[in-house]
Amino acid sequence: MLRHLGELAGSGPYTAQAAFAVVVGYRHDSIFGESDTSRAIQSMMLTAWEAGVGSNFVGFHGLDAVKPLLAIPDDVDVIGIIPFGYPAKPVGTGKKRRKPIGEVVHRGRFGDPWE
Ligand SMILES: Cc1cc2nc3c(=O)[nH]c(=O)nc-3n(C[C@H](O)[C@H](O)[C@H](O)COP(=O)(O)O)c2cc1C
Repeated sequence: MLRHLGELAGSGPYTAQAAFAVVVGYRHDSIFGESDTSRAIQSMMLTAWEAGVGSNFVGFHGLDAVKPLLAIPDDVDVIGIIPFGYPAKPVGTGKKRRKPIGEVVHRGRFGDPWE
């Protein structure tokens, strides 16, 4: 099944090598489905990472091909596949290249400087 998922997930072929994967979807008519499943995915990833288990978000829709494989009903939208597994090599915890906080956070009105 993981091998099949890896073949179908063009942007995540490494799914085939995962220890396990969670395919996440929500009922198409759910107003908060996309938000709720995104939050659930983030929680799963953070919880796994706490135990040293790595993961990634594969997809963000465009995964209809996995539905027949898993007997997922038509009215369920698949938002992503989350492969999990212990990292093959140690993962660094260096600094990410992020925008400075002042570019994305405003104190008071939008555009007001953060500091
Ligand atoms: C909604 C969403 C979809 C993503 N889809 C893919 C994907 O299909 N394949 C992939 O290798 N990474 C995917 N990623 C992972 C991102 O490319 C990136 O590695 C990840 O968000 C970590 O970013 P950060 O550590 O810079 O915040 C996705 C991430 C998000 C949030």
